[in-house]
Amino acid sequence: MKKVLVTGGLGFIGSEAVICLIENGYEPIIIDNLYNAKLAVLDRIEEITHVRPKFYQVDCTKYEETKAVFEENDIDSVIHFAGYKAVGESTQKPIEYYENNLGSALTVLKIMKEKDVKNFIFSSSATVYGVPERVPLYETDPVGNATNPYGETKVMIERILEDVSKANPSMNICLLRYFNPIGAHASGLLGEDPNGLPNNLMPYVSQVAIGKLPFLRVFGDDYKTVDGTGVRDYIHVVDLAEGHVAALNHLATNPGLVVYNLGTGKGTSVLELVHAFEEANGIKIHYQIMPRRPGDIDENFANVDKAFNELGWKAKLTITDACRDSYNFQKKNPNGIE
Ligand code: UFG
Repeated sequence: MKKVLVTGGLGFIGSEAVICLIENGYEPIIIDNLYNAKLAVLDRIEEITHVRPKFYQVDCTKYEETKAVFEENDIDSVIHFAGYKAVGESTQKPIEYYENNLGSALTVLKIMKEKDVKNFIFSSSATVYGVPERVPLYETDPVGNATNPYGETKVMIERILEDVSKANPSMNICLLRYFNPIGAHASGLLGEDPNGLPNNLMPYVSQVAIGKLPFLRVFGDDYKTVDGTGVRDYIHVVDLAEGHVAALNHLATNPGLVVYNLGTGKGTSVLELVHAFEEANGIKIHYQIMPRRPGDIDENFANVDKAFNELGWKAKLTITDACRDSYNFQKKNPNGIE
């Protein structure tokens, strides 16, 4: 069984990817420093899959301890999820964001080179496209000028990986540009578990739904979109996780450096998502229109043909599925994963 090192493997997306890897005959080995994840996620992965993956509480900016994991395990591929990810926080703590996100990627890449591990998948983001000139976004569209330091770390790491690929043509590197991940595992055991007040739309809506928050603040209704509220490409996290397995299978064909958008190809406005949530769950979501949130863009959605043509992957679950699964997770875990 091929061993796949999953950094940040106890996080929202990482944990779903671990499940998918197990279901597809890979052996995931998780490293996570538990900065933004809980150890209980490991128990839940075991409950779902009946497999308890090997886990190391390791910070992958730390060379020695990360190298020890490679030495103990015959790693075939790495999926690098680990990183700080809060857009707003990154504007307050740029040094920490650059240090942690670049540092962890560089440390892992350095060890991979030393150990001759050739397959690397990177969690990138649609944020690398900055303010889009037009939608849908294609992988060939210009990258750069992210609107915040978090996004800039993704741009920089993509750039580093291009150089690494040029210097090491036998390496296989996949940049996966995620659009907006939402939803949860259908069991309700795993899902998005933010600390404090959620930044992102779906966890906020879910917390309003269970009465933990009084109402949703809709940031702006004067965007150039279908109903004036921001439009994004929301992708179910289980579909997203499957995209990683498809990418991993593709790396086995030695493609060199490849880039894919992982989205649904469809834009949904804030109010459309709220109404879908209400319908899926038979519940009313109270909201108030507020001023725009600084840094937000009107509209952003993916062209997803490349991932379908080259990986044979496309998103299968709907916004309704995601609304149902997010609510189910939130109801079962009103205080997050404990
Ligand atoms: N929104 C609200 N109220 C909220 C939260 C969000 O109205 O309480 C709106 C935003 O204004 C935006 C939409 O909902 O129009 C989506 O906002 P999110 O914060 O959920 O997501 P973003 O599109 O801002 O950012 C997300 C990830 C980033 C990633 C980016 C890639 O959080 O990590 O998608 O496009 F970089």
